Amino acid sequence: MSITILGIESSCDDTSAAVIKDGVILSNVIANQAIHAEYGGVVPELASRAHQQNIVPVVDTAITRAGITNSEIDAIAFTRGPGLLGSLLVGTSFAKGFALAKNIPMVEVNHLQGHILVHFLKDKDKEKKQPEFPFLCLLVSGGHSQIVLVKSHLEMKTIGETIDDAAGEAFDKCAKVMGLPYPGGPVVDKLAKLGDRNKFKFTKPRVKDLNYSFSGLKTAFLYFLRDELKTNKNFIEENKNDLCASLQHTIVEILLDKLKKAAKQTGINEIALSGGVSANSGLRDAMIRSSKHFGWNVYLPEFAYTTDNAAMIAITGHYKYINKEFVGQDIVPKARFSI
Ligand code: KG4
Ligand code: ZN
Repeated sequence: MSITILGIESSCDDTSAAVIKDGVILSNVIANQAIHAEYGGVVPELASRAHQQNIVPVVDTAITRAGITNSEIDAIAFTRGPGLLGSLLVGTSFAKGFALAKNIPMVEVNHLQGHILVHFLKDKDKEKKQPEFPFLCLLVSGGHSQIVLVKSHLEMKTIGETIDDAAGEAFDKCAKVMGLPYPGGPVVDKLAKLGDRNKFKFTKPRVKDLNYSFSGLKTAFLYFLRDELKTNKNFIEENKNDLCASLQHTIVEILLDKLKKAAKQTGINEIALSGGVSANSGLRDAMIRSSKHFGWNVYLPEFAYTTDNAAMIAITGHYKYINKEFVGQDIVPKARFSI
């Protein structure tokens, strides 16, 4: 018997809906909210309003593109958290209404688990290797940076995480002080390709165990720029590419140092990368280099599934559906929701 899942993602500033059948992606529609760029960051109240406007047309498009009818959907999976409460509420309420109207079960999904399970999404016409259990996943997004030990599709344990800012936040905040548009990560990535990554040196944090810290780097970057600007008002303009390259290089090194430590400690060499920052070319190159150097089997997500998307929610829903892990109409979103 085949399983068709409709996935809904609305945790931050992207409204997304996807349909998957037996893990194969039939459609994945994402409506980005351009409005936040004007403010240099996500404005929660504007995000929930935009979700309200987008959700019905986005779901409609996902179902049409999938070439199915509503009656073929076996369950609806939605992001319960973590994320912005108002945004999560839109997806959760939509899922409740849809489940009630169609008389189908509802599955709640942890957004972070969704990012990790992108590695199990199948493409209609492309064979892809999937990680074998147990594997380690470096999950790096705008809100989270953690190393997760994945024992099965639904059994996961965080073995290291940031004690302050996330890697994506470090990209975004440093980009902001350089006057680059939001979100800064992709822009820094683009400019870094044109710069010298050894031009500027930023000290790396000393944090215990497998944990991360990125707020010190952000502050060091800010003070460094402030000092340089005192003697040269055009310092940022003249050194933008080198600043981006050096910043990216430092963030990637911080991320990889702990990942190597985790691989060594656990003896696991199946290593996956997930989350918005997994789109970063410097990080992807470093993962490939490490795979050669340490004999890791590395799994990089396709670009379309690095940042927030509903296909990752649908695939998590697929495995929970098999386990009959359903929720009732009394379910409420959770702004904080760890693995
Ligand atoms: O996973 P995601 O879409 O949302 C969260 O769950 O947070 O991640 C968004 C983050 C942002 O901080 C963004 O700047 C970063 O991912 N990002 C990148 C790149 N593309 C997106 N960071 C560095 N390089 C990129 N190419
Ligand atoms: Zn995310």
